[in-house]
Amino acid sequence: MLLYDKIKIFNEEGYKILENYLLDQVTSIRNTFILVDHYTNIHCLPHLISHVKILEKSNIIQIKPGEEEKNIYTCIQIWKQLEKFKANRNSLIINLGGGVITDIGGFVASVFKRGVRFINIPTTLLGMVDASIGYKTGVNLESIKNEIGSFYSPEFLIIDPYFLKTLPEKEFISGKAEMFKHGLIADEKFWIEMKTSTIEDYRKYYYQWGNLIHKSILIKNKIVDKDPKEKGLRKILNFGHTIGHALESYFMNYQKGKLIHGVAIAMGMVYESWLSYKVNGLSINSYQEIKSILSELYPIQNISDLEMDKIFSIMEHDKKNDRNKIQFSLLKKIGTCSYNCQVPTSLIKESFLQI
Ligand SMILES: NC(=O)c1ccc[n+]([C@@H]2O[C@H](COP(=O)([O-])OP(=O)(O)OC[C@H]3O[C@@H](n4cnc5c(N)ncnc54)[C@H](O)[C@@H]3O)[C@@H](O)[C@H]2O)c1
Ligand SMILES: [Zn+2]
Repeated sequence: MLLYDKIKIFNEEGYKILENYLLDQVTSIRNTFILVDHYTNIHCLPHLISHVKILEKSNIIQIKPGEEEKNIYTCIQIWKQLEKFKANRNSLIINLGGGVITDIGGFVASVFKRGVRFINIPTTLLGMVDASIGYKTGVNLESIKNEIGSFYSPEFLIIDPYFLKTLPEKEFISGKAEMFKHGLIADEKFWIEMKTSTIEDYRKYYYQWGNLIHKSILIKNKIVDKDPKEKGLRKILNFGHTIGHALESYFMNYQKGKLIHGVAIAMGMVYESWLSYKVNGLSINSYQEIKSILSELYPIQNISDLEMDKIFSIMEHDKKNDRNKIQFSLLKKIGTCSYNCQVPTSLIKESFLQI
């Protein structure tokens, strides 16, 4: 089944499908576990249960919030809880949270008793448009992001923009970076729509964001369905991430204070757009437009020479590299992206000076 068929967008219909799924004799779900973190337990669980009453009987497994918790030790805690409450092959795990929850919960499900079923109900913008879409699950190995993981598919997903009502603004802005990315790599019209969208009152107008979320999901989904295991085309989703991930790790390792994913990726997209202009045919006007739109919303920080060397050495250890060469996905024009691009070291370093 294509992933798209598994996406049940927008609440009422999705919740009804979930309820039927839980009651269905054929699926024979015997017990359900809902994985939450501290905040999604408070803000999201009551809404879910009010729509799917039968979930009142579920076992709730709560973990601490935050990227730091996305590690194998948290998985062990969750596996122990599953064992304690007698989870088996007829159990279902519902991941209710942002990308941290869907990444950990999906991974936990993929190996517990050699694989149990799970569904994703993302509650952050980033979770809705990115993390819960595309079969990738996993945890970090110390500061190496997503080093341990699996490709494992949820039974289905429910996207309910209602959850945006309680989402902190910085998290909303972070998710928006991935939506910009989807426009830049694959759909110019969507980039134009995103450029003119405003984050003001997103809590009040959460439902209207549903439309943009839907379009963003379709873009990612179309790419993933063509290349689920990232042998080629899917790599375009890494635009902004070669430099972005290195920045994120650098800030995490050197205690410079955390750089939220979307901000790191927005910075990465600005640098990598400059590289796209230098080596991949992106016009100077498009580069300047991207830089101006992104730097309006995201605080793009200056990087010193010393920092640059450290960030560069992190990039050299990126798991996406091939034969020790740093790999980039670079824009050809807005809406078209190439992958497996290599760039001279001197240019990568020069890109940091463009801000
Ligand atoms: N698997 C993939 O393909 C993929 C893709 C992109 C990102 N990711 C992963 O996603 C993770 C980041 O996800 P994220 O940005 O959603 O972060 P997150 O899961 O840490 O959530 C951010 C914060 O928002 C809180 N929160 C969640 N929903 C809320 C709501 N509705 N109201 C109030 N608070 C809420 C959480 O408790 C948390 O404190 C990273 O680990 C990244 O590697 C995975
Ligand atoms: Zn990302």
